[in-house]
Amino acid sequence: ATQSEPYDIVVIGGGPGGYIAAVKASQLGYKTACIEKRGALGGTCLNVGCIPSKAMLNNSHIYHMLQHDVKKRGIDVSGVELNLKQMLAAKDASVKSLTGGVETYLFKKYPVDYIKGEASFVSPSQLKVALNDGGETQVEAKNVIIATGSEVTPFPGIEIDEKRIVSSTGALELQEVPKRMVVIGGGIIGLELGSVWSRLGAEVTVVEFLGAVGAGMDGEVGKAFQKILQKQGLKFKLNTKVVSAEREGEVVKLKVDAAKGGKEETLEADVVLVAIGRRPVTKGLNLETIGVEMDKRGRIIIDDQFNTSAKGVKCIGDVTFGPMLAHKAEEEGIAAIEMIKTGHGHVNYDAIPSVVYTHPEVAWVGKNEEELKQAGVKYKVGKYPFAANSRAKTNQDMDGFVKFIVEKDTDRVLGVHIIGPNAGEMIHSATMAIEYSASAEDIARTCTAHPTLSEAFKEAAMASYDKPLNF
Ligand code: FAD
Ligand code: NAI
Repeated sequence: ATQSEPYDIVVIGGGPGGYIAAVKASQLGYKTACIEKRGALGGTCLNVGCIPSKAMLNNSHIYHMLQHDVKKRGIDVSGVELNLKQMLAAKDASVKSLTGGVETYLFKKYPVDYIKGEASFVSPSQLKVALNDGGETQVEAKNVIIATGSEVTPFPGIEIDEKRIVSSTGALELQEVPKRMVVIGGGIIGLELGSVWSRLGAEVTVVEFLGAVGAGMDGEVGKAFQKILQKQGLKFKLNTKVVSAEREGEVVKLKVDAAKGGKEETLEADVVLVAIGRRPVTKGLNLETIGVEMDKRGRIIIDDQFNTSAKGVKCIGDVTFGPMLAHKAEEEGIAAIEMIKTGHGHVNYDAIPSVVYTHPEVAWVGKNEEELKQAGVKYKVGKYPFAANSRAKTNQDMDGFVKFIVEKDTDRVLGVHIIGPNAGEMIHSATMAIEYSASAEDIARTCTAHPTLSEAFKEAAMASYDKPLNF
């Protein structure tokens, strides 16, 4: 079947970038469709990314606390047992309620036609959709937004079977706690999911090619983070290269090599998690036909208005440049639609927060010290430890610190890096500070409730141009 009237806007991909773009388009009065092949809306984030991983992080943290932490707080519990099946079911329930909510609530409230199938271009304004239920349909659109996201980067020569050698998707579905888990890649996925399985009882070793964990976080924070994770039981092999990983029955044997010419070593694991990054998804879109250009890494090239090299075709989210984060994809989705409506739309790439949802959390926004040194920018640093914060003390949760980096001459906030309890909520004050070009003094002179963890934030700001008061 072919529709009679063309859509104003068709979005390919129903992830956080795509479904938000579709909702925004509908809100602005456009006749909108969203094409998604997965069988559920929400993309990587809601189905196999942000949401299920946070469910497992939260619940594994509670389990771990009950086992190792609550006694000192005067809570005696006995008989704490892991019911992994139930923990996985709780995760699945969270996923289902959110993905279902997009389909049955959002796409109805702000009408969006949800087309279930795989889209490919016939021309810049014409799409062919292979429907999930069989058959094919043609869709015509005045504007198309590509929001096809990303997928796990394969490790050459290592075959992911999602049972013993898994990607993040398989690591969110393991039916029993592995005795030994090796994580290839000490980036965000490796540390979050490594933490989950370590808390649930696995012996976790993270093998990282570079000399630091945390994929680009501030160096000082990364080092502190690694130490804290080590205290929690995770083991690290940095500067180490994985040469091969092969399944021998129920065991995986990995050959690893010190990256700068050390001796080769064999590691054994019951489960190996491959987490060396993600790559854009463009396969099957037929981009060659319509002349959409990609860079060497396979990312779709766009200009500052999200235009691809094909007329009327824009692109947002993981499949193009920038950090692969759900909130970045969403911001771009909104801006791209506003751009169509008004000719203006805005994403401030200097103010996109990153959060690692371990315990403690790590969160940052803006520039880190390494970036500023490289750019030759003169800066000052103010730091404040949670060990000197009254709320962290009452909560007996004192690992970490807040670090402000401010411009030397103006005290303008350039970057904030937090490792500590609730860092992922606290970082948004820093994002606002950067968004509004605040100075450290603006923050330090803002009244902050006592006793809160946020006082550490205020004191770190103060420490960047003056002395903190409680440390
Ligand atoms: P996606 O979410 O990947 O959605 C793209 C959708 O397009 C997919 O559903 C796909 O099926 C569909 N599609 C592709 N091709 C076609 C086609 N031809 N036709 C129809 N449909 C198509 N980010 C955070 O910000 N916070 C987190 O806590 C976080 N945790 C994560 C944890 C894990 C384990 C992983 C893997 C990722 C995590 N991310 C997190 C990253 C986040 O999931 C992505 O940045 C985000 O999903 C990108 O959104 P998107 O809309 O660009 O693409
Ligand atoms: P990543 O880019 O965060 O980290 C990959 C790590 O693997 C890097 O440290 C890299 O040096 C290392 N590596 C690469 N090749 C290697 C090799 N051959 N051997 C050993 N180590 C190697 O990628 P990751 O963790 O896969 O996550 C992908 C993306 O998903 C993230 O960049 C992030 O954008 C997103 N994500 C976001 C989360 C959040 O916001 N909390 C959570 C999970 C994922």
